[in-house]
Amino acid sequence: MRFSDLALAIAAAAPASANPLQWAKRQFGGGFGGGAAGGTITLDASKTYQKMDGFGFSLAFQRANLITNNPSEKYKQELLDLLFSRETGAGLSIIRNGIGSSTSSNSDWMNTFAPDNPGGPDAEPVWKWDGKDSGQLWVSQQAVEKYGVTQIYGNAWSPPAYMKTNNNENNGGNLSPAWYQAFANYLVQYVRFYAEAGVNITHLGPMNEPDFSASYASALWNGNQAADFIKVLHPTLESAGLGSQVAITCCESAGWGHQSAMLGDIKRSGAEALLGAVTTHTYMGGAQGSFDTKVPVWFSEQCDLNGQWSTGWNSGGAGAGIVWARNIMDAVLNHNAGGYLYWEGVQWPNPNTNEKMIRVDETTGAYEVASRLWAFANWSRFVRPGAVRIGTSGGSGVRIAAFKNVDDSVAVVLLSQGGGGDVTVSAGDVAPAGGAVTAWASDETKKCEAIEVTGEGGEVVVNVAANSITTVHFGAAVAAEEPVEETPVEEPAEETPIEETPIEEEPAEP
Ligand SMILES: *[C@@H]1O[C@H](CO)[C@@H](O)[C@H](O)[C@H]1NC(C)=O
Ligand SMILES: *[C@@H]1O[C@H](CO)[C@@H](O)[C@H](O)[C@H]1NC(C)=O
Repeated sequence: MRFSDLALAIAAAAPASANPLQWAKRQFGGGFGGGAAGGTITLDASKTYQKMDGFGFSLAFQRANLITNNPSEKYKQELLDLLFSRETGAGLSIIRNGIGSSTSSNSDWMNTFAPDNPGGPDAEPVWKWDGKDSGQLWVSQQAVEKYGVTQIYGNAWSPPAYMKTNNNENNGGNLSPAWYQAFANYLVQYVRFYAEAGVNITHLGPMNEPDFSASYASALWNGNQAADFIKVLHPTLESAGLGSQVAITCCESAGWGHQSAMLGDIKRSGAEALLGAVTTHTYMGGAQGSFDTKVPVWFSEQCDLNGQWSTGWNSGGAGAGIVWARNIMDAVLNHNAGGYLYWEGVQWPNPNTNEKMIRVDETTGAYEVASRLWAFANWSRFVRPGAVRIGTSGGSGVRIAAFKNVDDSVAVVLLSQGGGGDVTVSAGDVAPAGGAVTAWASDETKKCEAIEVTGEGGEVVVNVAANSITTVHFGAAVAAEEPVEETPVEEPAEETPIEETPIEEEPAEP
């Protein structure tokens, strides 16, 4: 969402969330005010909750080119490491790419690979794939090949203009029913182009913020329209042999209330079983309880949209690192989230807000990392795709989320509520016998750094610092995860220089 549209969005959300400031506060604000961390936390694998798909970010609106076209080979590699490395970066496991709808790739417009109306919905489409996809393809290839990332999410902000009632990729409008099949074919073709380039798209979303008519790429959908389209898209994926590879996501609503209503319509239409993830944003209404669904729930675009750029852990208001450590904890513990994605991984300095985790200078390629990234690291490095959240009891002054990973390793994420202190984690036989136990912390000074852990077997003691997030990891008994093979990756094709047309407006911000 474009940051300057936030006020508008909040006003629009007012009827649903009586006091917009209230939800803003619930989501971001307030102190911690808890006591010192302490006590013994006991893990209970007989209690299980949601499965985790993981943590991620978007590269849409040409942000990916800050990496792909970065003038410095050194910065380029460092940026990839910061986002994807499980040793030195955040170990993020989901990328959300934008599927373009624009006839231009200037500025931050994402170009479509079907820019020309072939003459009608039944006419043979004309594909014009540029092999770059606004820089997103190359970063996705790197993520898959070098870092073993397995979840690549393609998400359309709008169908191409000629498929829509307003004949415009911008300003809302609807997908014309006559073009439903053509748009489904278009999305499947996107999956094919990525597959040809070695990247398996695992998640596919036909819409973004369907409740918000934006001046940039946008389309309006209600729940019944979404259900009708999903009923076309699903069999189209099936007949392309992609039914088991690609999960359909819906609906990226700008607010929780609208997402809840759309989900209700989708359920009544019998299309819920065709979904692989229920995706929501919380700009126009924060989370309330949990969605009534068995489909995995993703908080698929979250950020501090309007705070001025801050890298602070305790300072920086809604953008502070610890706020994001806590926002994720809230989503996972209170709202059943199995996926959690920040808005932009990287963005240029203008607008100089917190909507990105890393600020990259588009001229020099130099960058600055916000501590939000390290809050994500404490989750994403250790809570891996396929992990299941398990029960805990005991402990004081900390919020606790514990997970059993697919490789049997166990991650216990501890968020101090205020003061620090020694916490005992008793994993018993929930932890694999003989696995190495490590602990990692992020706070004002530490960036997901290893900290001391004492004790042995299933019972260890770790010092949780005040205002920190600390993750205890009980490693797998054997090296269950194959080291990712470092395959040399081809350089992206030489970019044809894009003619910069001066734009009067500030570039569109999704
Ligand atoms: C992508 O999918 C194909 C077909 O299912 C499979 O053979 C291939 O191994 C997958 N590639 C990756 C990187 O997962
Ligand atoms: C986890 O968060 C702490 C802040 O409490 C930070 O110091 C540490 O570096 C983070 N750990 C990782 C692995 O990023």
